[in-house]
Amino acid sequence: MSFVKFLGIGSAAPEKVLSNFDFEKMIDTSDEWIRSRTGISERRIAEPDVASSDLAYEASIKALEDASIGPEDIDGIIVGTITPDFIFPSTACVLQSLLGAKNAFAFDVLAGCSGFIYALHVAKGLIQGGSAKKLLVIGAETLSKIMNYEDRTTCILFGDGAGAAVITASETPGILSSCLGANGDGWEYLYMPGGGSRMPTSEESVKNGSHFLQMQGKEVFKEAVKALQSSSLEAIKQAGITPDQIDLLIPHQANYRIIEAVRKRLELPEEKVFSNLDRYGNTSSASVPIALDEAVKSGRLKKGDIVVFSAFGAGFTWGASVVRW
Ligand code: COA
Repeated sequence: MSFVKFLGIGSAAPEKVLSNFDFEKMIDTSDEWIRSRTGISERRIAEPDVASSDLAYEASIKALEDASIGPEDIDGIIVGTITPDFIFPSTACVLQSLLGAKNAFAFDVLAGCSGFIYALHVAKGLIQGGSAKKLLVIGAETLSKIMNYEDRTTCILFGDGAGAAVITASETPGILSSCLGANGDGWEYLYMPGGGSRMPTSEESVKNGSHFLQMQGKEVFKEAVKALQSSSLEAIKQAGITPDQIDLLIPHQANYRIIEAVRKRLELPEEKVFSNLDRYGNTSSASVPIALDEAVKSGRLKKGDIVVFSAFGAGFTWGASVVRW
């Protein structure tokens, strides 16, 4: 069986910044409350005419350049997203057209904030099973489009962005392990009620705000800490290493207090945990690949280092992966 490694990465975020101070003018909140409860200072917001595939496109072009290959060299595109351009067709198909990636199959993965980790796991399996050699794996979100900017318990948390990775069959190992999990009993804690077959869009559904993300933050918080810890440990075990061998943990960027709780449970020093949450907020599927791109570009992650990705999201879903960079 062949190994799978990363060949290129890239990320993109809209230029427009929405800061905590902007929120002070919009809702009953404060910069102090948001920073102390979440660690977030600002997030990026897409313009009205920008969809998730547009951010995915920007990130993908950078990842392809980084990998020194063209769109026609890609065998498949997998996009993790909870804010697709449309319910159907997939955002991956729209992206395939934008890129002109004529030889690629394309589909989306819907796994909440674990979308990139789920997509990576599936992509690894496809390559190892011989179905593809080079795949584009993306997390792309425009969460601002499903935010209720009158609900202070959710709107301060989320932002827009995309991260992309080219992965390839390899003779040397890159991805050392990967594991996924889910608990569907938690679906109601974090979801968007309207617009699907359960509650098709109607005048009433829009009036009720059913087209916005809804969340019970406290429950999600507790489950996130547990799942991020257990999935990281599972992936570390599967990789045949111990936590002290980790050079960098890139956890899903949801809340600074969640990241800190996980760091302490894994007994990692602060310098071994990457966070850019303060500048992006929670970008769901895009959070891990954007953070990965920044970790590499800033020199925090170097060739040969061992990095752990872990994520948790709506569903509930979770997953982790250990990679020798
Ligand atoms: N500004 C000011 N006050 C706010 C506020 C805001 N933006 N949002 C909530 N509050 C208020 C609440 O109304 C509540 O007031 P009350 O005591 O008068 O009822 C008080 O702050 C405490 O709210 P609580 O929900 O207990 O705060 P918390 O410490 O649990 O923090 C979250 C709330 C949402 C930040 C936190 O629960 C969280 O981060 N959860 C996980 C969310 C997440 O990461 N989801 C995605 C996972 S993939």
